[in-house]
Amino acid sequence: MELRYFFALIILNLSIEWVIARNNHTFPDGFLIGTASSAYQVEGAWNTNGKGPSIWDNFTHEHPYFVVDRSNGDVAADSYHKYNEDIDLLNEIGVDHYRLSLSWPRILPNGFSNRINRDGIDYYKRILNGLREKNIEPVVTLYHWDHPQILEEMGGWTNELIVEWFADYSRIVFRELGDKIKYIATINEPIMICEGYAGTEKAPGKKILDIGKYICLQNILKAHATAYHIYDEEFRAKQGGKVGIVIPCPGMFPKTEQDTEATDTGYQYICGLVAHPIYSKNGDYPEVIKTRIGENSKLQGYAASRLPELSQRWIQYIKGSYDYFGLNHYSSFLVEAVPKKNGSLWYNDCGVKLSFDPKWPTAASSWLKVVPEGFAWTLNKIRTEYENPPVYVMENGYSDTGELQDHKRIDYLQSYMKSMLKAMYQDGCDVRGYTVWSILDNFEWERGYTEKFGIVNVDFNDTNRPRKLKLSALWLKNVIRARRLEPIIDAAPIVLSL
Ligand code: BGC
Repeated sequence: MELRYFFALIILNLSIEWVIARNNHTFPDGFLIGTASSAYQVEGAWNTNGKGPSIWDNFTHEHPYFVVDRSNGDVAADSYHKYNEDIDLLNEIGVDHYRLSLSWPRILPNGFSNRINRDGIDYYKRILNGLREKNIEPVVTLYHWDHPQILEEMGGWTNELIVEWFADYSRIVFRELGDKIKYIATINEPIMICEGYAGTEKAPGKKILDIGKYICLQNILKAHATAYHIYDEEFRAKQGGKVGIVIPCPGMFPKTEQDTEATDTGYQYICGLVAHPIYSKNGDYPEVIKTRIGENSKLQGYAASRLPELSQRWIQYIKGSYDYFGLNHYSSFLVEAVPKKNGSLWYNDCGVKLSFDPKWPTAASSWLKVVPEGFAWTLNKIRTEYENPPVYVMENGYSDTGELQDHKRIDYLQSYMKSMLKAMYQDGCDVRGYTVWSILDNFEWERGYTEKFGIVNVDFNDTNRPRKLKLSALWLKNVIRARRLEPIIDAAPIVLSL
């Protein structure tokens, strides 16, 4: 063959491959697609059969005015009683996996390991067995914001002893339920939990200067790593599961051309504060954040940084305590650097201001802007920061006011999944699974029942809490069945008669 034809053929071949890769909307073999919930948001039965009160029970009962519609999770979607129906719905949609969380006070009503509530263990056993029977892989979060109130009386996440309390709780879960679980997430969204020590938006609703949230973060890092090592040393050989933590990482875009560097600082402050100690090569908090909080603390007259130093022993212990990166991603920010003048504080401890582009469409939640390209940005940031760890997307979803014909949710999910596939095929991000938040409309924390994330509608005015599939559930069912992003369908929602 003439040389020029040979080269022409190679170029043609490469272009075909490029086009295929570019337009590949197919999920790779073994990729998990599923949906999720968390205990306090769906279970209800807040004081049934031996369960102790959690900080969210206490927060919503003692301070109902902190929740916009003064509601609570006392009954929620009543999944404690209706879990079989939920499993049937998951089966109907055809999910590969279901992410759920365990309620710590349902298992240990007084927080400590001396009293195990058998009803709690049995309840979760029934769910895990029910999922397995339908071939649905359980992904289990040990802690999704609802620790026992009694532990909060002793300082909760600001008391370092909680590292041991969480270790004891984790060991009990691994011992009692671990043989049924292959994917474990220790803690959901540390940064959001610690907001509970910086204001009244989240339980326990304590504003402890500008220090509480950093002490909380550090104890969470230690608790996570301890649970990871317990699994590694005592259970992994027999149970063979994967353990990670779940971190919320939004996309970051420069507000002006001068703000490119600021996007990294913004990322490090929100995502890196937890991710860097665990996933980076050197461990410890991101340098830029350590420096800035340290400088602010000094200017404020503190003897040491408000971000407490991690000892070398803890840095080494926390570093590498993962089998995967659990990512929650919903939205993005515009980032702008706020220069520091001599003698003045770094703005917001990090020196960057976050805002939204007014052009970005908004969901029912004011913080949720639709920016699909931010998903690929975030996945690539994780790839480059931490040497391409395996990522499981643990939450991605859209809020509205509960419509059954939820076209906007479908558009959102479709565009975000596309962005994720682009990051995988074009950029080589190692994404192994994707989870839609949420299976059911549920108690949306301080927003009560005013914002709905479910692909299944729940009627909260009916004591039976009936469920109805939304159009997005049908759409997801088709995606999972085809194992690729299908063109958007337009059909009436089907009502399940179970
Ligand atoms: C939390 C969920 C919550 C969702 C939507 C995530 O931060 O993990 O519990 O419902 O965001 O606000």
